[in-house]
Amino acid sequence: MKLKLPKDFFMGAAMSGPQTEGAYKKDGKLENIWDTWSDSAISDFYNKVGSYVGNNFYEKYEEDIKLLKSIHLDSFRTSMQWSRLMDQNQQLNPAGAGFYHKVAACAKKHGIELFMNLYHFDMPAYLFARGGWENREVVEAYAVYARTAFREFGKEIKYWFTFNEPIVEPDQRYRSGVWYPFIKDARRGMQVQYHISLAHSLAVREFYKAKEEGFLLPDAQIGLINAFAPPYTRETPTPEDLEALRMTDGIHNRWWLDLCTSGTLPQDVLETLASCGVPVEIRPGDAEILKCGKTDWLGFNYYQPTRVQAPQEKVDENGHPRFADPYIWPERKMNVYRGWEIYPKGIYDFGMKMKREYPDLKFFISENGMGVEHEHRFRNEAGEIQDDYRIEFVQEHLEWVMKSIEEGARCVGYHYWGVIDNWSWNNAFKNRYGFIEVDLMNNYERRLKKSAHWVKALIEEREKED
Ligand code: FCB
Repeated sequence: MKLKLPKDFFMGAAMSGPQTEGAYKKDGKLENIWDTWSDSAISDFYNKVGSYVGNNFYEKYEEDIKLLKSIHLDSFRTSMQWSRLMDQNQQLNPAGAGFYHKVAACAKKHGIELFMNLYHFDMPAYLFARGGWENREVVEAYAVYARTAFREFGKEIKYWFTFNEPIVEPDQRYRSGVWYPFIKDARRGMQVQYHISLAHSLAVREFYKAKEEGFLLPDAQIGLINAFAPPYTRETPTPEDLEALRMTDGIHNRWWLDLCTSGTLPQDVLETLASCGVPVEIRPGDAEILKCGKTDWLGFNYYQPTRVQAPQEKVDENGHPRFADPYIWPERKMNVYRGWEIYPKGIYDFGMKMKREYPDLKFFISENGMGVEHEHRFRNEAGEIQDDYRIEFVQEHLEWVMKSIEEGARCVGYHYWGVIDNWSWNNAFKNRYGFIEVDLMNNYERRLKKSAHWVKALIEEREKED
């Protein structure tokens, strides 16, 4: 298949504040939960590289934006850090705001659209100390932060997002406990997921209020970004396999899709959870808040499919109800470097699901990418990384995206994750995702990889037709 990008389809980059900015204590930035973890157990991070430096975007943002432009990308998403924008009294930190104003002005100057997300797993430490997402006051504080951001940047930024992958913190910090503070408690995890849903809804409410009051651009839009991939099970499933599918899909996807499209949460999921001893505490008046959670569009992050089957045991080693076991598809193809399955058709299946079940909502691919360890192995004599595997990965995914559009999916753009190599949580710089290399031994110097030339040529081809 010859890959051709449609005319009204944007092509850009995805990144996040905590993974790129660095400058973790500069200009009044407060500690966030990643800094707390880095300070308390640096050995938990690959090569002992904590959250301190990102890829130095704080210093290099202008160079980076020019680089994105030089390979013909038209947009990029990053996130504001709550711990940079606000002080401990929930007031704007002018120096922190100054940084994001500079980024917005620079994007505008170079003709690249800036998408801004408000939260990417980066709770300020002082709020975490007050209970983080388990505390309703923190939910309220998030709404204040969102309101402040909309009013401060409303005339500079058109595309806003409340959360990136809101499922990740409930899972990683509270249920499986693999991320600081390593909690393994299904009830607390579900309550956190519920509170994040309220926080999202309050922020959307603030967004529309700010719009009404004239603080935003008239065509400003709000969305939510998640890894909404529909799960798969065995080809000839038992009723128990289908039940595993229902709950996996329910907690990970339908939960957020229902919230963004109808302002409700899936009743069947809440009921099953309650019957398994994981009730969610809902207060009177919450339904009114959730109703505000409807968004203008969605971002869909896609790396790998989820495959599940009926669980062997109904309870896991932490005493949590177990709704599904992983299913290893015999035909799977792996990214051996990252340990993730590569299944490009999943991106198409999501498009078709959206067309069928949520036909009014448009979306874009907000993250997709391939992380590879020890990438320096692939350097040629001239020093350029020959990442043909990445080109193949992106090409195949884009082909399936195009097929979904041809068949009626309302997919309007694509952002590649990690266009410039960045810091990936406790994996730090282990797996590199970029079209652009970051040289950690040479002052974070940036260098194009082969894939950068490839994507540039792909976009140029469309431009030639204009
Ligand atoms: C996604 C996250 C992003 C990045 C990629 C590799 O789940 O949104 O921050 O780490 O994975």
